[in-house]
Amino acid sequence: MQEKLLEKFKELFGAEGEIRTYFAPGRVNMIGEHTDYNGGHVFPCALTIGTYGVVRKREDNKLRFYSMNFENLGIIESSLDDLKPDPAADWTNYPKGVIWAFGEKGMKITQGMDLLLFGNIPNGSGLSSSASVEVLTGYILKDFYGCDVTNQDIALIGQFSENKFNGVNCGIMDQFAIAMGKKGHAIFLDTATLEYTYAPIELKDAKIVISCSNKKRGLGDSKYNERRAECEKALEEIQQFAGVKSLGELSEEEFEKFKSAIKDEDRVKRARHAVYENQRTIKAVEALKNNDVELFGKLMNESHVSLRDDYEVTGIELDTLAEEAWKVDGVIGSRMTGAGFGGCSVSIVKNDAVDTFIEQVGKAYEEKIGYAADFYVVEIGDGPVRLA
Ligand code: GLA
Repeated sequence: MQEKLLEKFKELFGAEGEIRTYFAPGRVNMIGEHTDYNGGHVFPCALTIGTYGVVRKREDNKLRFYSMNFENLGIIESSLDDLKPDPAADWTNYPKGVIWAFGEKGMKITQGMDLLLFGNIPNGSGLSSSASVEVLTGYILKDFYGCDVTNQDIALIGQFSENKFNGVNCGIMDQFAIAMGKKGHAIFLDTATLEYTYAPIELKDAKIVISCSNKKRGLGDSKYNERRAECEKALEEIQQFAGVKSLGELSEEEFEKFKSAIKDEDRVKRARHAVYENQRTIKAVEALKNNDVELFGKLMNESHVSLRDDYEVTGIELDTLAEEAWKVDGVIGSRMTGAGFGGCSVSIVKNDAVDTFIEQVGKAYEEKIGYAADFYVVEIGDGPVRLA
């Protein structure tokens, strides 16, 4: 694979100079959804699938980008003097956004780059292909351009670029999971303090299966910002009675006590999800520590129900994937993962049930939705690396 990418790079951009190859993973969140911008906990892990980047520094200020996933777009060019979001620049707004964000943080990049990308994360799957590109770019600026940043800084700068350059008000989860990934481990992150611990995921007799709905996200991003605004408003209402900085500071009991302050039924539901999901995530990690994978799975299922009924970000595709999964013997837990509105679900499935799972859920999905889902058995991998 690396050889093919290098060959393509040389064909497009020439063979001279120092050419390096990097990789940044995608991520899947096991539990703790829509909690990261509410000061709660998340429990994601990096995957062994992700984005490969072949790159060369340039002497001038040109930026030339090419993606082997969007070959029809050809080489997309811009310049370091013109770092503005541009719809016509398509996916290149992600690397451009990161280069811009480094400048905003006092690390102005003065040498351009030729960058070829190839991602083996299914497109639009909700496994964070965009955060993967952001972290990859940040890692290149650290390792190749010599910017003095830690991987955690790269995550924060990536999120800043997504918020300010690309206009999605995302939390820190995706970039953090990718930049800080560790093989065989999920990251238990408190998004209020950025304190984190690595928890080993030792599923001896089970696998993590991703079911991709193949529903294109479309309106997802605007709905995402809408949910975030609803939570912020609910927090303001609660703050008139309780001295908390975020919904993540509330226990279930405290929420029940204060919820009458919220003057809109939908906002009550959104806030209830944020509070209960955070507590569920803490319980799930505790369960895992006690080797109680069954309880972990049960909490995953409850997470889906809450995202379906209270947060309302699932939709018929993700509901079908989860609900059909729950019917299969040997499924320990199953839920939508990521922002929702399309994308994919994550399931923990006993080894000997994986084939039946794929067959049964796949058949039911296609019958109900009218097109097929895709299934991937995934492994938990490390954060960004230089490969060559
Ligand atoms: C997207 C965002 C994350 C997080 C999830 C929902 O992936 O980028 O910050 O909010 O949705 O948990």
